[in-house]
Amino acid sequence: KDYIAEAEAFSTQNKEELEAFRIKFLGKKGILNDFFAEFKNVPNEQKKEFGQVINALKKAAEGKVAELQESFESREEAKGIYGDLTRPGEPFQVGSRHPISIVKNQIIDIFSTIGFNVSDGPEIEDDWHNFTALNLPEYHPARDMQDTFFIQTNPDILLRTHTSSVQVRYMEENKPPIRTISPGRVYRNEAVSSRSLCTFHQIEGLYIDKDVSFADLKQTLQYFTKEMFGKSRIRLRPSYFPFTEPSAEVDVYWGLKTEVDYRITKGTGWLEIMGCGMIDPNVLKNCNIDPAKYNGFAFGMGIERIALLMYQISDIRMLYENDVRFLEQFKSSI
Ligand code: PHE
Repeated sequence: KDYIAEAEAFSTQNKEELEAFRIKFLGKKGILNDFFAEFKNVPNEQKKEFGQVINALKKAAEGKVAELQESFESREEAKGIYGDLTRPGEPFQVGSRHPISIVKNQIIDIFSTIGFNVSDGPEIEDDWHNFTALNLPEYHPARDMQDTFFIQTNPDILLRTHTSSVQVRYMEENKPPIRTISPGRVYRNEAVSSRSLCTFHQIEGLYIDKDVSFADLKQTLQYFTKEMFGKSRIRLRPSYFPFTEPSAEVDVYWGLKTEVDYRITKGTGWLEIMGCGMIDPNVLKNCNIDPAKYNGFAFGMGIERIALLMYQISDIRMLYENDVRFLEQFKSSI
């Protein structure tokens, strides 16, 4: 019992003293082991009490060792943290945004300013949202414009070929007026080269209200190219999309200063940035919007091509290799 009192009263600031204490009580030849060895010689009627006392002693000694050890450790830790205030901080790596994200965010910012929200949809789509609702019924020859990856053998499930599928979903779920842009990844079964990949990103825009005119579309595009590229010289060429009528292809005059400009504009200086048009009434009908009351426009553009020109990247594949030496160059960008 005296030993218990001794163990409980013990205190030290010193590691060696603690170790000596540990050996004295808990070591191989320590007091406790002596008592345990003694146990078998204790008369039976005293065994119970004797057992309780040595267990209490064991607890007291172990508890003291653990308590003192912990206080040493926390003192050392504190020294480590606060000890040398002139010690330089740990360096840590700052990542950079991917150029596709940079361009995408810029486009989103520009359209948010004029009231467009951002909408999203699945990359694995069904035939209805990717084609049929967009006025592209089965066997429509325009389906060939977009070589499609089908999921397994079910022709109803595919990887979306354009973000126009999000338009359909948005119209099904929202009532006009609608102002939304849908950025996202799309897939087409195309040969990989320095100019094209079988996956890329688009941003689709959708505007539906009463009495929307082609002039509204043109003005919106002009605002966009001015904000995005600082250039408002655009031209619209008549084109065809099954989901818009009339349809147009939009070019912005970029110029021909570098080899990349030359390659991407195919030597013309005009950058083809998007397809657009007034939404076909059939599409509105398919999405439960009354074409007698509402009309609107849509446009869709590829993000990669814009990124290539903005950052003068000569091969589109660089955007997907994730070589750190390439990505690091975008550190200073937003
Ligand atoms: N979805 C078309 C494409 O991928 C682009 C587009 C969108 C054209 C909206 C017109 C209107 O080529």
